[in-house]
Amino acid sequence: MAGELKIRVNEQVHSITADPNTPLLYVLMNDLELQGPRFGCGLAQCGSCSVLLNGNEIRSCVTPVSAVVGKSVTTLEGLPAWYAKQEKLPSVPALHPVQQAIIDEQAVQCGYCFNGMIIQAAALLSKTADPSEAQIRAVMNGHLCRCGSYPRVIQAIERAARRMKASIGRTTSDLRAQEMPAVEVVR
Ligand code: FES
Ligand code: FES
Repeated sequence: MAGELKIRVNEQVHSITADPNTPLLYVLMNDLELQGPRFGCGLAQCGSCSVLLNGNEIRSCVTPVSAVVGKSVTTLEGLPAWYAKQEKLPSVPALHPVQQAIIDEQAVQCGYCFNGMIIQAAALLSKTADPSEAQIRAVMNGHLCRCGSYPRVIQAIERAARRMKASIGRTTSDLRAQEMPAVEVVR
């Protein structure tokens, strides 16, 4: 039965009226009119609907909206501000370093998968400053790209990692020392 729920998305609290079992993706797209997360398979198989929940990638197509009450959702639209907050930057950049690296590597073809690719890569680099190619492949494994952009996506993630290290001097040990938010993945 539909009821009022308050959810925090991109640092803003929204009151919505929805059945608690409504997929978060539907609320993001239809109620909040966000265009970052996309509907692909609807079965947690492709990654096009990915968002961050307390800093961890989740598939919003299979996450009931009630599961995010009291937590923090970040979509592609809020990713630069999320990054700035994480890294305590003095201002919010126009793009997350992964977004800029994707442009620099000209990795995008049709672009449908790139919401999830970027969200997942940002989550990876928030916890692992120097991911190996094997680590990147493992983490990105659940993101399907019908255009076959995988090699350039990997190059872009490596480029973003280098840029983040150079610009803010991050190392993996620094990240381990950070107080990370509670990990709770809802699928
Ligand atoms: S639409 Fe959610 S994983 Fe495919
Ligand atoms: S760029 Fe077309 S699906 Fe990935």
